[in-house]
Amino acid sequence: MNIKSDVLIVGSGAAGLTLALNLADHRKVTLISKETLVDSSTWYAQGGIAAVLAKEDTVESHIQDTLKVGDGICDEQAVRFTIENSKAAIEWLIDMGVEFTRTADGTDYHLTQEGGHSQRRVIHSDDTTGREISDSLAQRVRQHQNITVYEKHLAVDLIKDGERCLGAYILERATGLIKTFSASHTVLATGGASKVYFYTSNPDGASGDGYALAARAGCRLANMEFNQFHPTCLYHPQAKSFLLSEALRGEGAILRLPDGEAFMERFDVRGDLASRDIVARSIDFEMKRSGLNHVMLDMTHADKSVIQQKFPSIFETCLSFGYDMSKVPVPVVPAAHYTCGGVMVDLSGKTDIDRLYAIGEVSYTGLHGANRMASNSLLECIVFGKAAAEVILNDDPIDQPELPLWDSSMVVESDEKIIVNHNWNLVRRLMWDYVGIVRSNKRLAKAAAELAAIQAEVEDYYWNFSVTSDLIELRNLTQVAEHIIKSAQLRKESRGLHFSIDHPKKMNLTEPTVIKP
Ligand code: FAD
Ligand code: SIN
Repeated sequence: MNIKSDVLIVGSGAAGLTLALNLADHRKVTLISKETLVDSSTWYAQGGIAAVLAKEDTVESHIQDTLKVGDGICDEQAVRFTIENSKAAIEWLIDMGVEFTRTADGTDYHLTQEGGHSQRRVIHSDDTTGREISDSLAQRVRQHQNITVYEKHLAVDLIKDGERCLGAYILERATGLIKTFSASHTVLATGGASKVYFYTSNPDGASGDGYALAARAGCRLANMEFNQFHPTCLYHPQAKSFLLSEALRGEGAILRLPDGEAFMERFDVRGDLASRDIVARSIDFEMKRSGLNHVMLDMTHADKSVIQQKFPSIFETCLSFGYDMSKVPVPVVPAAHYTCGGVMVDLSGKTDIDRLYAIGEVSYTGLHGANRMASNSLLECIVFGKAAAEVILNDDPIDQPELPLWDSSMVVESDEKIIVNHNWNLVRRLMWDYVGIVRSNKRLAKAAAELAAIQAEVEDYYWNFSVTSDLIELRNLTQVAEHIIKSAQLRKESRGLHFSIDHPKKMNLTEPTVIKP
C-alpha cells in the first residue's frame, strides 16, 4: 500500500517541525520520526539561538563573526541570508509560543554570549532552550489536522523515478514492516552524524541517516571533514557526555588544568571565549601533553544562587554527579557535537535531486564553512525550514504514481545479531581514535582500510538478512564515516575544525570539499 501526502518530512527536530508548521495550512504533511517527536538534538540544545536583537548589535557584526569563525570558506550569500532573517525567525518562534528568558526587570529578552560572538546575541530559555522549542512546536504539530505524525518509524531509502524523488521506504520499528510513502516533495530533516564518534553530546538518533540516504540517491555532500567537537562535556562514566554549555564561559567560567592554571590565553587572545575549534584543540593538546583524562571548568567565582538561576538544569545535573559548581571546578572533556558538512542545497534547501530537499544539520548551506559558530545551528533550522516551505508552496503538487512495494523476498532472519553491535562499536572507536580532533595522513589511511573491511561485512549482512533499525543505522553510519574520511583525505591543509599534522598550514582555498556520488 502507498501512503500518500503532499509533503513527506523525515525528522522532527527544529528544522522538520518548523517546515511542517509552515506548510500545514496549505498542504497535507506526513512527518516521520524514528523515535518520538521530541527525541532529537534540538531537544538537548542548551545555550540558545543567535540573532541580531540587541540595539547595539548589527547584522553586519553577526555576519563578520560567522565568516571569521567559518575560517574563510563560508558561503557569504548563505551567511547573509540566514542572519538577515534571524530576527524574523525569533519572532516566529515567539508567535509559536516559545518562551525565552527575560531580563531581571522583565522589560526585554536576556541575551547571553558564546565563543566567537563579539556581542551578546544569544536568546535562550534558561539552559534548556531546545526543550522549550521542541516541546512548543511539537505540541502545535500534534494539534494540526493536516499533519500526520508517524513516530518510531525510520526512513530506509528514498524512492526515485529518474532524477525525481517520489517518496521513501519507511520501517515501522514495532513490527519490522517496511511501508511505502509517496509525496510530491520529500524533505530530509534528519539531523547530524556525531554518533559516528565514540564520545558525543548527541542523542542516539544522530547516526547520519540523511547523509547516507541522500548520497545513495545521487546527491553531492560537501565539507564532511568538518566535525565539531564541543569543548566541555561532563567527564563522568555515567554522564553520557552531558554538555556544559558554552554560555557558562560567556558568564565567566574558566578552563583550568588540574594545578589551577587558566591555560586558554596561551592559545588565543580571546581566552575562554575563543571559537570552539581552538578551545577543543587546546584542551586536546593539554590532555595529550600531560596525560590527563580531563581538564576543569571553573565556575566557582559565581554565587550558587546565580548559577542556579541562570543554569538550573546544568547545576542540578552536575550536582547529581557529585559536583556543586559553586564550590568545585567540574571535570570536562571534548566530545563530537555537530556535523558542519552535509547534503548540498541552495537557499531554499533544494538538493541535486528534483523534489528532494534537505534542511537543518543534515544540509550544507554554506553558513558554517570550516567551523560553526555557537548557536547558529538552531537559527539555520528555523530560517531554512521557513524558506523551504515558501518554495514548496509555490510548486504545484504532482500526480503521484503507485510506487513499488519493498521487496524482502530474498532475505532471511538474521542468525548473528552480534555482528551489528560489534561493528557499531568498531566504527565509532575507529573514528574517535583516527579521525578525531587532530588528524594525520597515516591515521586517515588506517581508518579507511579498517572501515572498508567493516563496510564489506555490513553490506553483505544488509543484502542477505531482514533489516532492523540497528542494521539500517549501522549501514548509514559506516557510509557517513567513509564520506568523512574521504573528505578529510582530500583536504590537504588545516583549517577550522580540520587539523592535520601533515598539512598544518592553511592554503589559499575557498571551495568546499565535494563528494560526488
Ligand atoms: P535534530 O534536532 O537532530 O532532529 C533530527 C530528527 O530526525 C529527529 O527527530 C530524528 O529522530 C529524526 N531522524 C533521523 N534519522 C531518521 C530516519 N532515518 N528516519 C526517521 N527519522 C529520522 N545549536 C544551537 O544553535 N544552539 C544550542 O544551544 C545548541 N546546543 C546543543 C546542545 C546539544 C547537547 C546538542 C546535541 C546540540 C546542540 N546544538 C545547538 C546543535 C543543534 O541542537 C542541532 O544542530 C539542531 O537541533 C539540529 O536540528 P535538526 O532539526 O536539523 O535535527
Ligand atoms: C552550547 O550551549 O554550548 C551549545 C551551543 C551550540 O552548540 O550552538
